[in-house]
Amino acid sequence: MGFSCWPGSSSKRSEERTSKNISRKNKKNDISSNKSKPHVQTQASSDESKVSAYESVRKEEVAKDDQLSVDVKKLNLDDEMSKDGKASKRAQTFTFDELTAATGNFQSDCFLGSGGFGKVYKGFLEKTNQAVAIKQLDRNGLQGIKEFVVEVSILSMMEHPNLVQLIGFCTEGDQRLLVYEYMPLGSLENHLYDLPPGQKPLDWNTRMKIAAGAAKGLEYLHVKLDPPIIYRDLKCSNILLGEGYHPKLSDFGLAKVGPSGDKTHVSTRVMGTYGYCAPDYAMTGQLTFKSDIYSFGVVLLELITGRKAIDNTRERGEQNLVAWARPMFRDRKNFSRMVDPLLQGQYPVRGLYQALAIAAMCVQEEPNMRPAVSDVVMALNYLASQKYDSSSPVHSSRKSMPSSAMNMDDDEKPVSEYELDRR
Ligand SMILES: Nc1ncnc2c1ncn2[C@@H]1O[C@H](COP(=O)(O)OP(=O)(O)OP(=O)(O)O)[C@@H](O)[C@H]1O
Ligand SMILES: [Mg+2]
Repeated sequence: MGFSCWPGSSSKRSEERTSKNISRKNKKNDISSNKSKPHVQTQASSDESKVSAYESVRKEEVAKDDQLSVDVKKLNLDDEMSKDGKASKRAQTFTFDELTAATGNFQSDCFLGSGGFGKVYKGFLEKTNQAVAIKQLDRNGLQGIKEFVVEVSILSMMEHPNLVQLIGFCTEGDQRLLVYEYMPLGSLENHLYDLPPGQKPLDWNTRMKIAAGAAKGLEYLHVKLDPPIIYRDLKCSNILLGEGYHPKLSDFGLAKVGPSGDKTHVSTRVMGTYGYCAPDYAMTGQLTFKSDIYSFGVVLLELITGRKAIDNTRERGEQNLVAWARPMFRDRKNFSRMVDPLLQGQYPVRGLYQALAIAAMCVQEEPNMRPAVSDVVMALNYLASQKYDSSSPVHSSRKSMPSSAMNMDDDEKPVSEYELDRR
């Protein structure tokens, strides 16, 4: 009898997909040790990577150190996981045999795709009757053991409906695997671009719901965790979708503990993904919460326009989404030309203006001008609550955006004049 990694289904998604993360190569992160409450501690703080980012930006080449040579045992991963009551309860350890069984020996039918970390397989844990996604670290790949440790440490102490749940890990011999909850609808990227025939594009309401949920996940990292965390890898491929297009952020291997005390930034080697990386961070290596806000703005622009953050198949001047959008923000006559043609005009005009206003604020060049995440959440919650109904003559309510979040109720204003309350 053939093995099926998913009871009742054996569909294979994106088998031929390869990593699109241009910016990852031999990188080195800080390591976070886990604590019993949502609390993170940094042990080391140097990063190395090749980066990227914004048109004129320097490229940061990585240094030397081969991360795969780091002895994971020295990091006391297993010990810490088991010493800590809460973390150990939430992140189980698996044997390699268990994960081999869950994926039918990592058979190709279970292959979901691959990224900088390695290959990802769909699996099924008989013991708990649970579908999972299993990421196997490619020891010759672009990411290393420290990222594995950061991922385990950070994810096992976090719990939020908009963050993907880490179920466990395997560190047997030289194998390094991560076991996550399975997200049946895959990544947001799969639903925005290169849709296979027959796949319906996301409608406006779903796009706003995804944006609001992703913002809530980011708010948890920035505001609710102690100390807060800068995500550093916000992009469409890292927003995974559950039933009903419920979004969750995934991939915390690049996450970094935010600045403490009076400090406004953390100094790091620049890392991230081309097209999503804030220009200020790319230029200076100074990482702030506003770097994530910029990346969020790029994702929101992708949701609205259906254009990729970087698209080399487009003509010059349109390849970098932010560079293309910025001049368009100045005149609202352009707005209807910015919206994803796949929406076929099925969007609320007012909602479009407001969504573009939020995106425009997030991708501002000057980091201090970008809104705080809580303001973004409030504004997007509002937009997501304004359901668009194409059959209704009045497509959106005339209720104004909550004044504590945004002052965006004047239809005559160009986007650049919309203001956020800044904290
Ligand atoms: N928990 C999950 N449930 C379902 N599919 C997943 C899960 N995690 C990852 N995938 C799928 O596996 C594929 C590879 O994901 P992965 O995160 O390794 O790469 P990526 O996001 O494309 O790049 P990066 O390495 O920059 O994160 C993607 O298609 C993603 O949709
Ligand atoms: Mg990913």
